[in-house]
Amino acid sequence: MSTLKKQAARGQDSQVLPKVPVPPLKQTLDTYLKCVQHLVKDEQFKKTKTIVEKFGAPGGIGEVLQKKLLERRDKTANWVYDYWLEDMYLNNRLALPVNSSPAMVFPKQTFRDHKDALRFAARLIRRVLEYKSLIDARLLPVDVARGQLAGTPLCMKQYYHLFTSYRYPGLKTDTLKVDMNTASSTSEHMIVACKNQFFMLDVVANNKQLNETEILSQLEKIMKMSENAEEKHPPFGILTSDDRTEWAQAREALIKDQTNQDSLALIESSICVVCLDEPCGLPPSDTNRALMMLHGGGCERNGANRWYDKSMQFVVGMDGVCGVVCEHSPFEGIVMVQCSEFLMKHITGSPLRTVQPSSTRALSPPRRLLWKCNSHIQALLGASGDRLQRLVNNLDMDVFTFETYGKEFIKKQKMSPDGFIQVALQLAFYKCRRRLVPTYESASLRRFQEGRVDNIRSATPDVLAFVKSMANEGATFTDSEKMKRLKDALKAQTDYTIAAITGMAIDNHLLGLLKVSKELKMERPDIFCDETYLASNHFILSTSQVPTTVEMFCCYGPVVPNGYGTCYNPQPHHIVFSVSSFWENTETSSAVFVKALNESLLEIGDLCNRSAAAASQPTESSQAACQPHKSGK
Ligand code: COA
Repeated sequence: MSTLKKQAARGQDSQVLPKVPVPPLKQTLDTYLKCVQHLVKDEQFKKTKTIVEKFGAPGGIGEVLQKKLLERRDKTANWVYDYWLEDMYLNNRLALPVNSSPAMVFPKQTFRDHKDALRFAARLIRRVLEYKSLIDARLLPVDVARGQLAGTPLCMKQYYHLFTSYRYPGLKTDTLKVDMNTASSTSEHMIVACKNQFFMLDVVANNKQLNETEILSQLEKIMKMSENAEEKHPPFGILTSDDRTEWAQAREALIKDQTNQDSLALIESSICVVCLDEPCGLPPSDTNRALMMLHGGGCERNGANRWYDKSMQFVVGMDGVCGVVCEHSPFEGIVMVQCSEFLMKHITGSPLRTVQPSSTRALSPPRRLLWKCNSHIQALLGASGDRLQRLVNNLDMDVFTFETYGKEFIKKQKMSPDGFIQVALQLAFYKCRRRLVPTYESASLRRFQEGRVDNIRSATPDVLAFVKSMANEGATFTDSEKMKRLKDALKAQTDYTIAAITGMAIDNHLLGLLKVSKELKMERPDIFCDETYLASNHFILSTSQVPTTVEMFCCYGPVVPNGYGTCYNPQPHHIVFSVSSFWENTETSSAVFVKALNESLLEIGDLCNRSAAAASQPTESSQAACQPHKSGK
């Protein structure tokens, strides 16, 4: 092992990061009131204020719960981890596709034929094995924070979950099983899905990993076997696309048979799933490729060629539509990006290495997974297929690249690109609905032991003041007034961001207090029964920055029926947005939101340009600043 590798390994093993703090109770309660005041009616707010004050009063319930949380912090590596995991993922009964599992969409590949696609898949599998070896040996270099508060090392634990996790469906709550074992005892097979059939691909033979040519030859065998109509099994993967309780019930029916138990055990213990998809028959636009990654296009396309419980599913479409679908509970999108970039950086470009026939071994064909079906299971498959189709029909997706400027322009204004984009999203929503709504932006907690995320509540009072000025609501605002409000909004956003990434946001804390009250078997405290609390956790705007350094983008669905999922990828000179909503909801439309977002970014950009121009011409600017100015357009 090289010295550098040894250092990297030591770096990961000896990572001693601070524990996530428990914020002071009063600070959280004050921030909570500030976050909700402008989002609820005055009457409701008065009620909420009284409830919150009672909760936080000396000797009140809040203090009791806070004390318990502080004790929990002492006893655990991360006091919020399990609470958060259950609340965010495991207790959620909604289907994983669209509602929970994000996807990375790779650039459209050009395959001349099936063999080209299989070559791509073989190379991808090789790269996965190389990446996994680095993880198992704890040899990945430690990530270091960029952006706000740059330079601190980040927790690497999420990487260990990439190829060792499985989410089991449960009747009431799911279970995430993570096998943290390292190199010595890890799994040596992957599952390949092809034409809705599942195959076990051993990636090691006689103690030696398969090379690219050997993997290619195994994939060719799989493709051939999948075409054999006589051995075809029903599309069992469709069950994993269902609501979690439905899938848990179906799984109980499946495991009554030993054959099914054996097949499930092989999938559950695999490294990952590789889905060889049929051509989807749609133009390969960014939006269509995102849709195919998120739901596979339902039973008519590749929706059953998946196993959603498995953390990493690599999709290789024969038409060049490729990407990764992730079960979200074991890790965040940022880790999924790091892995995807490692794979893609070395796959595209170089031709498949020609390996001499003597160096390829004669391997026995991969094993087809067998299933036992009966009329009950057949009916369950049909019902799951129908529900997936409804989800497919319902997803309104719009992937939009804003090309007028990117983060370099924003930095030149001496503004935070992330804050700026968040403000633009708020303005876009305001343009659509004339109000702001509770908004979620993920903030990484990886500066702490086992850190996952907390929430930046981006719909601040300051951004409301800004968007009103842009709409010239109540008065006509000058550019300098708008600019002042923009800067205030950005400051509020950046302050919240810094609070969140240093463990001082309110969402995890409030959740912790609620969970502790449950553990103490208390009656649910009023603060958590209050209409404001419930509304403030209904995230109509669910947003996340997922930046990439190679050409690819992330997407996900809305988290509530009347909401938008908005993932963005700021690049130096453009920004990619993946906007999703549900067709069944009459209040939302991804196209309408995208249009408003485009206008918002142009208008804010224009405002910055005008203000900069005015500032560089002092005499004219003081005159211009006095003139009422209709912004944008
Ligand atoms: N003037 C000039 N430049 C500025 C600036 C300013 N006022 N403020 C920030 N910048 C620069 C930063 O230095 C940084 O520079 P770099 O690109 O050279 O590193 C860049 O602009 C980006 O900073 P910013 O836009 O402020 O945001 P960030 O990169 O710190 O990101 C979060 C903020 C909240 C997105 C980030 O902290 C985070 O938590 N990311 C993880 C999100 C996540 O988990 N997503 C997946 C969920 S599944």
